[in-house]
Parts: sequence; structure tokens; C-alpha cells
Amino acid sequence: MIVGVPREIKTAENRVALVPAGVESLVGDSHTVLVEQGAGLGSGFSDEAYRASGAALLPRAGDVWSKAEMVVKVKEPIEPEWPCMRKGQVVFTYFHFAASEALTQAVVKSGITAIAYETVQLNSGELPLLTPMSEVAGRMAVQEGAKYLEKVYGGSGILLGGVPGVLPAEVLILGGGVVGANAAKMAAGLAAHVTLLDLSLDRLRYLADVLPPNVDLLYSNRHNLLDQLRKADVVIGAVLLPGAKAPKLVRREDLKVMKPGSVIVDVAVDQGGCIETTKPTTHENPTYTVDGIIHYAVANMPGGVPRTSTLALTNATFPYAKRLARNGWRQACRDDAALFLGLNVIEGKIVYPAVAEAFGLPHTDPRTLLG
Ligand SMILES: NC(=O)c1ccc[n+]([C@@H]2O[C@H](COP(=O)([O-])OP(=O)(O)OC[C@H]3O[C@@H](n4cnc5c(N)ncnc54)[C@H](O)[C@@H]3O)[C@@H](O)[C@H]2O)c1
Repeated sequence: MIVGVPREIKTAENRVALVPAGVESLVGDSHTVLVEQGAGLGSGFSDEAYRASGAALLPRAGDVWSKAEMVVKVKEPIEPEWPCMRKGQVVFTYFHFAASEALTQAVVKSGITAIAYETVQLNSGELPLLTPMSEVAGRMAVQEGAKYLEKVYGGSGILLGGVPGVLPAEVLILGGGVVGANAAKMAAGLAAHVTLLDLSLDRLRYLADVLPPNVDLLYSNRHNLLDQLRKADVVIGAVLLPGAKAPKLVRREDLKVMKPGSVIVDVAVDQGGCIETTKPTTHENPTYTVDGIIHYAVANMPGGVPRTSTLALTNATFPYAKRLARNGWRQACRDDAALFLGLNVIEGKIVYPAVAEAFGLPHTDPRTLLG
């Protein structure tokens, strides 16, 4: 199969969908890999590294799109890429169709088969191609919280881990899923005192077994939340209600009980945020202050560490890409129930119910198209 890797062109996107190790493996399976020049630079992978792994480097994205039978990407195709998609081609990337009717219509019109990272789902319910980005964001949230506590950024001037004779910072984490658990590990490792709130008792029991003793686990209700907010130096928002907007756990008036110069890192911002005063920010301008509390709400946190994010993402996506290349998308999706759920559009027909419902478009049962 001919596999194509265009350079990502969405603003501030520095990740790449395939690293040289992946190229080597695909070429070893006798596939041809076409990489657009400069595709890996933002993640620290040179053209030379791709060439040495067996890729053919092409100067223009259009050449990659026109020759590739399967295109692997990171972000959804954006408008300038829409004319490049062609009938019969497979595109494997994040699509987030429900967020854009225009993208959905463009993909339907193109006749491609769209396999979306974000809907690949294991029997357990886990979304294995979203998990690595939550791991990155959870870990990064603690770094950012610690940074903005520094006086020069307007913070209260508290060192996260304290020193002997001086108490460490109090880190409050709302939600103990992938983001929350990773944040708790990092904050605890830096010797902060951590309190994590979740609604799921099963999840709290599991976390009690795996997290260190400087993490307290507390049932999430308004009473406990307000108690903890009074003490917190860093609050990390990490709740998720699957498929819904994040609940606003911290209200504007609650900021008044917090200590001035404390920091909120609302990782859940991509679902609307779990703090009432959250509004999305960017890596270029990541924070703003409300009632003396610094807010960090970057909607694509992993984009700040593209080298790590690319490696983490491709570790998870590559085994699927390899099977798609080896067996073709039909067989690969028949063989793997998780990948089957990644099918959003087959040859221009919408097969993922939530995408069809979002825009009142017709839905086709994917099984009738798989053969
Ligand atoms: N900003 C970014 O760059 C970025 C990156 C990755 C993930 N995210 C977002 O971070 C959020 C968390 O992702 P995740 O992968 O950890 O999700 P997850 O499903 O693994 O965890 C969510 C947790 O929230 C808990 N929860 C739900 N309601 C709660 C409540 N009222 N109080 C306390 N806990 C509650 C759930 O029990 C669950 O344990 C999502 O919105 C995700 O989209 C953002």
C-alpha cells in the first residue's frame, strides 16, 4: 500500500502522524511511505531521518495526497486540504466531525473512508487513541500550575514541593480519570500535598491502590469541594461526562474563597471547562486572571510538547495504521471491533450514528458496506 504523511497545516500544530520508526516498520512490510518535506520538523524529526528509514520525501502536500492510498494525519483535514481528498482513499486521523458540519459535508462529498482516532474504542469503553493525549495534558497541568504559582507570573510565590521546614503547596484535582490520575502522580512526585475528588467510588478505590500516600481521595460533592478550594494553591479541572459539556463545578462566586495568586488549570476546557470562569486560551497567551486567581485554559495542551505528544500518539495509533496497511481497511475493521468503531464515513456515506444525528444527515449501517 502507498501510505502518505502530509505536514500538518492547522495553526500551531507541530505533531506528525508517523515517526521514522513507523516508516521503517511499514517499509519493512513492503509498503511505500510518502512523507511531505518538513512534516516531522516541528516534532524534531528531520527529513534525513525519514529518508534513512526508507520514506520517499515529496516537496508538496498535493503530491502526497494524490498518490497515497491511505493518508495518516494528526488533525482533521482543514479547508485547503479538502480538495486533496479523493474517492477510494482512506484517511486515518482525528476528525471530531460533530464539531463541524462543513468538514462532514466535505468528507461526504469527497468519497473517502474516514477512520477517526477519537472513536476507536475498546470493549472496556476506553478510547485508546485519546488516552495518550490525556496522559500528556494531566502531567503537563502540574508543570503549568507550578510555573504560574511563581511570583513573576503573578502567582502566590509558593514552591510546589516546599522544602524541609516549609509546607508544600496544596494541589486540588477535580476528576480522577486519565488526566486526573496523571496529574496526581506528577504533583505527588514533586512532593506537593494532593487532594483528588471523583464521583466514582470504584475509581477512588482503584486510585487508592495505585497513588502514593501524599494523595488524599475524596468523594466529589459541593461541600467537600468548597472546603478544599479554601486551601488550594493549584486547582486542576479534569472532569468528563462522556459526550456532554463539562459540569461547572467551581462557580464564579467560589473564587472569593480561594487564596489570591492561586492557579486554576482547567484541562477540561475542550469540553467547555469545569470552572465557570474558564474561557479557552492558547499557548501564545495561556493565562488570564479573574478575582486574583490565575486561569490557565489552553485547549490543546499536548501541542506545547509536540515531541513527546507525537511519540505518545504514534505509539498508540501505529499498530492500527500498520494493520490498515497490511490488511486493507475492510479486513482490518472486520478483524478488530475497536477499529470498526473508528469508522465514521465509508466511501462518502456516514456510518457513525452520532455524526449523522448531529447534522440530521442520513446514516448507513457500516456492516452493509463492509461486505
Ligand atoms: N486541554 C487539553 O489539551 C486536553 C487534553 C486531553 C484531555 N482533555 C480533557 O480533559 C478532560 C478529562 O479527560 P480524561 O481523559 O481524564 O477523562 P476520563 O473520562 O478518563 O475522566 C473523567 C473523570 O471525571 C470524573 N467525574 C465526572 N463528574 C465528576 C464530578 N462531578 N466530580 C468529580 N469527578 C467527576 C469521572 O468519574 C471520571 O473519573 C476531558 O474533558 C478531556 O477532553 C483536555
